[in-house]
Amino acid sequence: MGRLSPPGSVILTTMGGGRGTAGKAAAVRIKALRRQIGEANRAYYVLDKPGLSDAEYDLLLRELTALEEAHPDLITDDSPSRRVGAPVEGPFPSHRHEVPMLSLGNAFHEEEARDFDARVRRGLGLGDEDPAVEYTMEPKYDGLSASLTYQEGLLVRGATRGDGVTGEDVTAQIRTIRSVPLRLAGPQAAIPARLEIRGEVILPLAVFAAVNADQQSHGLPLFANARNAAAGSLRQLDPAITAARRLEFIGWGIGAVSGPGFASHAEILTALSGWGVPVSRDMKICSGMDAAIAAHHDMETARHDLPLEVDGAVIKVNSLKLQARLGHTSRHPRWALAYKFAPRQMTTRVNDIVVQVGRTGVLTPVAELEPVNIGGVTVSRATLHNAGEIAAKDVRVGDTVFVQRAGDVIPAVVSVVSEKRKGRPRRFRMPSACPRCAGEVEEVGAHLYCLNTSCPDQVRGRILHLASRQAFDITGLGTRKVDQLMAAGLLREFPDVFTLGEKKEELIKLERWEEKSAGKLLEEIEKARTIPLERLLVALSIPGVGVTVARVLAAACPDLGALERATQEELMEIEGIGPELAHAAVHFFAQEGNRENMARLLAAGVTPVPPAKLSDSLAGKTFVLTGTLPSMPRNEAGAAISRRGGRVTSAVSARTSYLVAGENSGSKLAKARKLGVEVLDEKAFRRLLDLEGKAEAGG
Ligand code: IVH
Repeated sequence: MGRLSPPGSVILTTMGGGRGTAGKAAAVRIKALRRQIGEANRAYYVLDKPGLSDAEYDLLLRELTALEEAHPDLITDDSPSRRVGAPVEGPFPSHRHEVPMLSLGNAFHEEEARDFDARVRRGLGLGDEDPAVEYTMEPKYDGLSASLTYQEGLLVRGATRGDGVTGEDVTAQIRTIRSVPLRLAGPQAAIPARLEIRGEVILPLAVFAAVNADQQSHGLPLFANARNAAAGSLRQLDPAITAARRLEFIGWGIGAVSGPGFASHAEILTALSGWGVPVSRDMKICSGMDAAIAAHHDMETARHDLPLEVDGAVIKVNSLKLQARLGHTSRHPRWALAYKFAPRQMTTRVNDIVVQVGRTGVLTPVAELEPVNIGGVTVSRATLHNAGEIAAKDVRVGDTVFVQRAGDVIPAVVSVVSEKRKGRPRRFRMPSACPRCAGEVEEVGAHLYCLNTSCPDQVRGRILHLASRQAFDITGLGTRKVDQLMAAGLLREFPDVFTLGEKKEELIKLERWEEKSAGKLLEEIEKARTIPLERLLVALSIPGVGVTVARVLAAACPDLGALERATQEELMEIEGIGPELAHAAVHFFAQEGNRENMARLLAAGVTPVPPAKLSDSLAGKTFVLTGTLPSMPRNEAGAAISRRGGRVTSAVSARTSYLVAGENSGSKLAKARKLGVEVLDEKAFRRLLDLEGKAEAGG
């Protein structure tokens, strides 16, 4: 706090009256900062066009906080510096909604949506010949509903829905949500004196994943889905915790409102957006149910690409006059309907828990499920990740569980339906030896590894991986052939791929092989022998080393022998290589079997080609990278520097030549400025690399 103002200045300026020349200048600057921050929020959340980087935003906020600390008389409740308040003494006070918050009727199939249209038409006294009803279609956000009350444009209350009549007063927590304006934007005279905005508090999926990773690393229970995580985050007595969770708010309607009303739902959303409240940008106006159903279909197709959970589309009669004529039942409005998408989560029974051995030796527990159709795909297995996750979720054989399929991700068991547990099924325990080869296992981080590098499941996985596109790219070496060649004893380890030529006679004796097909495969293998170093590194199946990391390693350490001998500390010096990766690599190269395989590969004529050094343009220069560079992952930036002879270190010091500051740069940026280290933004950095307008070539 107040890092920008020396401690003494607080007392001096306030004692000086605060409204002297310095006070006036501060008042002007404070006003400008608040406006700039407010505009940045609107650009980011409402217009989806971020105008400032996170670093710039943070700098403005810090300057504002420091100025307000120096001039406490200038602090107002709607200042963006005042989002995080003091912890609430629990429990939350209750809040009675002026207008009840109803819920929505559901439809799961097209006929139900058509029935709804028929009910609406009947309710409005429309016959077959009458024109179609105009509906709006917008995403149904899977979060928790909240009500925000504004008085004279100022946020005065935030409440949860609760049972619809009475919710909880979570004003302090709602204030921490950056997309909730503390003061509504635009000409204040046009804002109703009293206005209740309703909408959904959600947790973007990326934030949800980070929250769960954090829960896991602290040994805390995981949230089953983004909605539960959002609810858990909002209902924190300490607003600082809510603030750290990065919730977002999306408005979908209004409750109590004073003054002249609106004519349509679409008009409401437009007004909200103008006042700085984020609303759906995907809202569609549809004339009649056919158009609404088509819009539903489009939204369902697009849902996988959204950064947040959407579980359906909400159909609303657009005209507020017609809405009023239709009215509501005790539970839902007769003018709106939630038309759900096919669920991505289903419940099913765990028939067994088995353990798979991957190519890196990692043991992964997998639930064998009673087959279940999830969003059109039959799922019969789902990953349980590791022992820690099984324990956290307490999954046992015989349990009924929620299984989730999200995008391309492998299906995963989300949680147990505990009410359905029968008796006291046995807890699952990870095996104390490899289930495939009975070899010794070792715990590394959250995972168990089979230490026997000749474990047949590991070997099979490694051979298949070695032949894959990102590695040696050998066509014609798929699962069936690898299984056959392993069974015949022609492949015992992955280096055997490169000595297969010596066994051609045996190869052509096998079923489905002949001179021509064998010749073709051997030719492919021959071609693959010379390989860029980074692809060889990918091929080795070092835990955590995929294409990007391999590229970083190869750029920083073009000598395979040196890489093999590097210590964990040395590897951690490389930008983009953290302690876990460094440990995994050292552990990998320490294993006898792996060293032997490498030696055999090289002996069989595999020739790694180190990445070409592009130039010496950055020789003698030291760089520190901080924040995110939108057009280039950090580790690639590191590799680009290495390839020009520069060096990347992790801490800023007086010896640092450049700090490359991306979005969200924090303390390193401040330190560099203090030390007078040259700071490059992304554009300047690309210019220095001579990459302006080009992409860094891969090899
Ligand atoms: S309109 C009278 N629109 O879904 C209720 N609700 O299952 C009008 N929801 O309680 C609700 N996205 O929390 C509406 N675009 C949207 C929505 C939405 C999510 C939630 C809302 C509601 C629940 C009903």
